[in-house]
Amino acid sequence: MPDLRDDVRELFGVITGRDPDGIWSAPGRVNLIGEHTDYNEGFVLPFAIDRRTLVAAGAREDAVLRVASTFSDQAIEIPLAELDAARGRAGWADYPLGVAWALGRSGADLAAVPGVDLVIDSNVPVGAGLSSSAALESAVALALDDLWRLGLTRPALARVGQLAENEFVGAPTGIMDQSASLLGRPDAAVFLDCRSLDADIIPLGFAAAGLALVVIDTGVTHDHATGRYGERRASCEAGAAALGVASLRELTVDDLPRARAELDDVTFRRVRHVVSENRRVLDVVRTLREDGPTAIGALLDASHASLRDDFEVSVPELDLAVETARENGALGARMTGGGFGGAAIALAPIDAVSRIQVAIDGAFAEHGFAAPEVYPVRPSDGAARDA
Ligand code: GLA
Repeated sequence: MPDLRDDVRELFGVITGRDPDGIWSAPGRVNLIGEHTDYNEGFVLPFAIDRRTLVAAGAREDAVLRVASTFSDQAIEIPLAELDAARGRAGWADYPLGVAWALGRSGADLAAVPGVDLVIDSNVPVGAGLSSSAALESAVALALDDLWRLGLTRPALARVGQLAENEFVGAPTGIMDQSASLLGRPDAAVFLDCRSLDADIIPLGFAAAGLALVVIDTGVTHDHATGRYGERRASCEAGAAALGVASLRELTVDDLPRARAELDDVTFRRVRHVVSENRRVLDVVRTLREDGPTAIGALLDASHASLRDDFEVSVPELDLAVETARENGALGARMTGGGFGGAAIALAPIDAVSRIQVAIDGAFAEHGFAAPEVYPVRPSDGAARDA
């Protein structure tokens, strides 16, 4: 990414009058399957995408953290000692400030480390459900870990990003997005057990099989800090408590008849989604290994149906995107991410991609929906130091 790297280095120079100590970057993610399973200690299978957030960073001589970015005119400056009092106040800057704060909660002595200038640029679309927030958290976490010589592992840095998001920003999200951003590998997905945090890299082989993974960004905005994501999480926790298990991960499809007998209808359907989705993640991993990516379409479709009907986090734009992609040659399609807007994905033969793009544009126009963005993404490398 030569261009973004030059831009961020140049802006760092303009703002600080010196060169950065380094440049770090981290990608957004697409979740192939395993939705609303992470905070239920279940399985997820996301991959890092070829859209990244870059951070140029340099140590300061005082104990101040300053963050600036190409997407805001205002730099935010705050003494490291005052981070705790600043929780949830700085808009987009809550993410980088939150990471510094969370590193303090995870063993870094914020009274002993130098202040840092951070300058940020990104080509991860914001609000598309591709985890621009996790890309930002992961790039900053890696930069501060290096500059402050903390030596934290990638899984520990993922926890730091999640802590920042949960307790500094105030969004009750799981560990999936940060794990994808920090652990992703080219042409592969991260198979994560969210209970043990064991991660396996699963080759995807899309291009070799003549397939493309298309993102359909509906443009419908979602915000995990607002209620509905938290409501779904609370239903899952209530279902687990009523069934006497620590998390829904403890249940299998064999437990569903008992769940149906003991739970109200809504809670039962939330539970059925999570239990069946965990099963589908394992089935996709096995199918990828045994039969390759052309064989996973039906599992993607089943995931979407479960999210739409049982978990009820889809919206008409996502349903239309998924149906239109399938009607025009996709092998499988589903919404990806938390839902209530954001993006869908479709796995399609490369030669069907332009037909799908045209058909989705036409279908959205026909329904009076705002024009979506439809583009392929490539499973890519996770966070790294770039310079
Ligand atoms: C959002 C959250 C993730 C995960 C998904 C749903 O992306 O950030 O932790 O819960 O929703 O699978």
